[in-house]
Amino acid sequence: MYKTVIIGVGGGRAHGHADAYQYVKRGRVVAVCDLMRDSMDDFADKYDVKARYTDYREMFEKEKPELAQVSTPPSVRLEVLEAAEAAGVPAVVVEKPLAIQGEDYLAIRDFAARNPKIKVAINHQLQFHPRRQHLQKLVADGAIGDIRFIEASSGMNLAYQGTHSLQAIGAFNPATPTTVFGQVSGAMGLQPNVKEHYAPDQSLAAVEYDNGVQATLRCGENAPRVPRGDAIYQHKRIAVYGMKGYIHWTMWGWETFINGAYDSGDHEYPEEDVLGQAAMTEAMFDWLEDDSAVHPLNLDRALVDFNVILALYASSLNHKVLELPYEPEADLVPKLRDALQD
Ligand SMILES: NC(=O)c1ccc[n+]([C@@H]2O[C@H](COP(=O)([O-])OP(=O)(O)OC[C@H]3O[C@@H](n4cnc5c(N)ncnc54)[C@H](O)[C@@H]3O)[C@@H](O)[C@H]2O)c1
Repeated sequence: MYKTVIIGVGGGRAHGHADAYQYVKRGRVVAVCDLMRDSMDDFADKYDVKARYTDYREMFEKEKPELAQVSTPPSVRLEVLEAAEAAGVPAVVVEKPLAIQGEDYLAIRDFAARNPKIKVAINHQLQFHPRRQHLQKLVADGAIGDIRFIEASSGMNLAYQGTHSLQAIGAFNPATPTTVFGQVSGAMGLQPNVKEHYAPDQSLAAVEYDNGVQATLRCGENAPRVPRGDAIYQHKRIAVYGMKGYIHWTMWGWETFINGAYDSGDHEYPEEDVLGQAAMTEAMFDWLEDDSAVHPLNLDRALVDFNVILALYASSLNHKVLELPYEPEADLVPKLRDALQD
């Protein structure tokens, strides 16, 4: 059994990581870490984890895990990756978003460029939801013909949910983005906040890919609402249009139109999500066992995706179509805050 540790268990998300272990066959959670002792104890009691730490470096030394799952705020990413590598931890799953703006993106990109002795994946577990896997396979097998257009969205902003929807575009169309034209509005999400997630309230991007596919990404209040979706976080969706039909996935249902035949159904997001999280974790173990079984949510791919978001910000600030890869200018978040402030 692989030994997993979870870092940042005082918030809501870490429960998703731990719940998945009821389905994970090759690993178990041996220790947890958080700065907040009481919240950590509540979490560890719930999942019956005995070993508890307030310092993840000490945890790495003592527990010698094969996998660390990181559910800290976006400001606590690189330091954990560096410490894990230094301690010889072979694999880390880091929660989304990978970064917030250019500075932290560049620091993580520099880390990746050193070819660190550690396998890193970003936790966009929707890639592994059973329904998404089914639809992704249909598209990959050519059921809707060549892809012409993709439209993805999320009810929350780019920092909270947008990277899930952007990653979904890549899941259906594993090509390289080449240009971005973006627009943003609303500065509420750019104000200081405890979760340290900073993004404009609304965004729209037109993205071109090197295989000719065009995509749009809408994140925030301007995103379409999803049938059966209720609270703001329940509106992630993607539609993929091809020469022979389309597929449409939302958090609560799906549609296909293939060769003139329409089909549709419902699913429950929480049920899909726990299975997706478990499969994402197992894929990490696959990668540990076989260097060629590279995790589809690997760090290099996530850096390509996050570059799209940075280019979207710069495009909206500078009123230009930007070519990728985009070398980010400094202080994108403060610049957006200044530009969008009423
Ligand atoms: N993949 C998903 O579907 C999904 C869903 C929700 C949230 N998320 C992401 O998960 C991450 C965590 O979300 P959350 O709502 O649980 O966040 P949160 O801010 O509520 O909790 C983060 C926890 O990390 C702890 N922490 C901070 N610095 C630490 C350190 N140095 N060492 C140990 N612990 C530390 C904090 O004390 C806190 O308990 C965010 O990046 C969020 O975007 C992902």
